[in-house]
Amino acid sequence: MNLTMKDEILCKFLESENLPISGQQLAEELGISRTAIWKHLQTLQDEGYVFETIKKKGYVLVSKPDRVDPARISSFLETQNLGHTIKYFEECGSTQVIAHEMARDGAEDGTIVVAESQTAGKGRMARPWESTKGKGIWMTLTIRPNILPHQAPQYTLIAAVAVVVAMKTLIKNSNPVIKWPNDILFNGKKCTGILTEMIAEIDRVQALLIGIGINVNQQLTDFPEELREIATSLSIEENRELDRAKLIATILYYIEKYSDIYLQQGFQPIKTLWEENSGTIGKKIKATTLREVIEGTAIGITEDGVLEIKDLSGEIRRIYSADIEIEK
Ligand code: BTN
Repeated sequence: MNLTMKDEILCKFLESENLPISGQQLAEELGISRTAIWKHLQTLQDEGYVFETIKKKGYVLVSKPDRVDPARISSFLETQNLGHTIKYFEECGSTQVIAHEMARDGAEDGTIVVAESQTAGKGRMARPWESTKGKGIWMTLTIRPNILPHQAPQYTLIAAVAVVVAMKTLIKNSNPVIKWPNDILFNGKKCTGILTEMIAEIDRVQALLIGIGINVNQQLTDFPEELREIATSLSIEENRELDRAKLIATILYYIEKYSDIYLQQGFQPIKTLWEENSGTIGKKIKATTLREVIEGTAIGITEDGVLEIKDLSGEIRRIYSADIEIEK
């Protein structure tokens, strides 16, 4: 785990289960001076962590802010590779753009870039992505699987399945569904978008950048007016706040799990999982591609993750990229 000293200190408190830790103990365990420890504690206090001093015993962490900082994500992490390097921002333009730069500079497999807010969040088809401060998950995962460029879209579907399964694991009885290729909807409203980009040579993928945007703790009024009819958050659907750091760690766990299954067994198990969690298959849909509008019934996805529609004349049409509307 590549954590800064400040995050190492925070991890000690998160693991301490409310028992006091002395400055001396921290200094010895981490190999730095007590003054340095004190300065890091000051920074953590400035970020909203509250410590109580217990005479002759040390400090106890009594309250934590709702942040997705590396120490909090790490405290939930159960992965072998993913999320062991975390680049955290209070605010950035787009985690996707930063991840691109880091991947080109050699960022290791499994690195994540995560932000409390984005000022220039990117959606698919160059659309803007609304990223309210401190309310959602705005992160990009860099992975370096040994696959060919034409297999890359399958990873978008792996990510979509992983996000849905993570949501169902943390929120019992919830019913998120995937809208092809990778939106996640609750009751017909969008809660999550996934943007997968690739750095590749003609015959080799160097890195996949999986950008995941999830509306977690927004209330309706946090959304701009024009999104209120079509967007939702986990909190609106579930009537409670969720721990964003825990959800990030759970998503990484399932992406790693399904990526391993995919690399060992191929796309078939992922296709099955995707179809089981799909809100598109069997539905009447309208697909707007760059060239035409196709109406019909979605009948499945192919081995390449391409959507198949039986159109109104009964012909099977393959959709590689489109905006989809699902008839209610
Ligand atoms: C979509 O259009 O549905 C995809 C949205 C993807 C948004 C995420 S938020 C984290 C990452 N950084 C970005 O700028 N975009 C992706």
